[in-house]
Amino acid sequence: EKLEMFVDKLPHIPTLHGFHIVNGVLKPKSLQIGMFFKKWKFHRDLPATPVFAYGVSKHKATVPGPTIEAVYGVSTYVTWRNHLPSSHILPWDPTISPAIAKRGGIPTVVHLHGGIHEPSSDGNADSWFTAGFKETGTKWTKPTYHYVNKQQPGNMWYHDHAAGLTRVNLLAGLLGAYILRHSSVETPLKLPTGREFDRPLIVFDRSFRKDGSIYMNATGNNPTIHPQWQPEYFGDAIVVNGKAWPRLTVRRRKYRFRIINASNARFFRFFFSNGLHFIVIGSDSAYLAKPVSTKSVLLAPSEIVDVVVDFSKSTSKTAILANNAPYPYPSGDPVTDENSKVLKFIIKHKSETDTSSIPTKLVQYPHADVSKSVRTRYIAMFEYVSSADEPTHLYINGLPYNAPVTETPKMGTSEVWEVINLTEDNHPLHIHLGLFRVLEQTALVETEKFTDCMTEKNDAVKCQISKYARGNKTAVTAHERGWKNVFKMMPGHVTKILVRFSYVHSNESYSFDATQEPGYVYHCHVNIGSRRQYDDETFCDGQVI
Ligand code: C2O
Repeated sequence: EKLEMFVDKLPHIPTLHGFHIVNGVLKPKSLQIGMFFKKWKFHRDLPATPVFAYGVSKHKATVPGPTIEAVYGVSTYVTWRNHLPSSHILPWDPTISPAIAKRGGIPTVVHLHGGIHEPSSDGNADSWFTAGFKETGTKWTKPTYHYVNKQQPGNMWYHDHAAGLTRVNLLAGLLGAYILRHSSVETPLKLPTGREFDRPLIVFDRSFRKDGSIYMNATGNNPTIHPQWQPEYFGDAIVVNGKAWPRLTVRRRKYRFRIINASNARFFRFFFSNGLHFIVIGSDSAYLAKPVSTKSVLLAPSEIVDVVVDFSKSTSKTAILANNAPYPYPSGDPVTDENSKVLKFIIKHKSETDTSSIPTKLVQYPHADVSKSVRTRYIAMFEYVSSADEPTHLYINGLPYNAPVTETPKMGTSEVWEVINLTEDNHPLHIHLGLFRVLEQTALVETEKFTDCMTEKNDAVKCQISKYARGNKTAVTAHERGWKNVFKMMPGHVTKILVRFSYVHSNESYSFDATQEPGYVYHCHVNIGSRRQYDDETFCDGQVI
């Protein structure tokens, strides 16, 4: 029997303030956040599910974890503690460049996705630690992370990032939202505010067994080599803020929703069943220059969209937030009845006065100035098969996980990256500790010829990329033209981006010591495992694609 939709109310995720107020003055705060094994009710009719959850205590731990609210210029310190048992609740493949704890236990490390701060607080995949810090990865430096909160206000999320385990640790529940507020920038905007009218919506897909446990296929797609590795995870149930297909009763007024796609591999193309519009005000961690009204929003895994929805414009009593993105995106199966529905809004009849507004201008940041770029890099993604028996690995520029570093950008500079996607899937490229703007998307011609050349381990320049990058151009969607930290790399296309390795609102750059470990990371965010680091080391391990 299928689970009945829209029976649970949309939960309020608990919030944790990342600051103190002492005599009216804002002061830094130190938080202790643990990872706990507990049970979580995802649906009224489903037995409680074993999960891994973040929280200040086991009792208070939630899925998603508490929303951390920080304010501009006030440091938040978090000591992340692992209280997990010795065995995982999900099957994971220890043969893929994993974090293997020799003395048992589950390696974890927390990355603040979208954060711009010191690299040693970034949650490098090899900075993992087990319960009680009994064992630590090769890049582990310290137990307390420092989030300096000096970047532009906006939305981030924290999630596990342990090498080889990221995808299962996320599936188990290790993720949460982080909001950075800056009152002198945001108050004049008069957007909907307060717990009731400004809410994160953290959306992910999961499959559940009858006993409530999370279902994940335990047989790898090539069991002789990788016993449990599955390239992409898709679940049938759509979970929002920890409940499967919840409902929310709303008033006839504007609401702000910070929508995070926390799925491992599922893209969502959101739309409202009654035609309501999204007024997009921000994308990933930054505000747009001005609001963009749109009927649908395509969100790749790990992308964030910040929207205002005006329910006073609704002509119907209910509206379903729906999804029609094929999976895998873009050429996979069409959505089913289950995964095409996300959240039901029940709109109150009574009209009311709404003092919030949608300003004509939001926040102005510098434009992408290509003339200031210090260099151009070519980043080619393609699936590489080393022998007939091996599963396909996604490599970046033909380099595996442990290859020496090739990208060593300098803090405070900008670079043009031309990302060449030779795979059949859309790959969300994510860059840590910086922001970028999407400049252009150009289709490749004679892709096969180019790919043949690339698999010989030639680079894109030697293979004369310019000869192939001359197909049709696809316009960048209006609400995706601001500063972002994730973007969808279309298959068969070259996507040109301008990456800025500093803050976007000032020329100041965070303090950075190029010799400091760990360095910077970029990777695809499908199943959050394929990654390649730059600056001090490099990898793209291919456990993902
Ligand atoms: Cu969402 Cu490397 O992170």
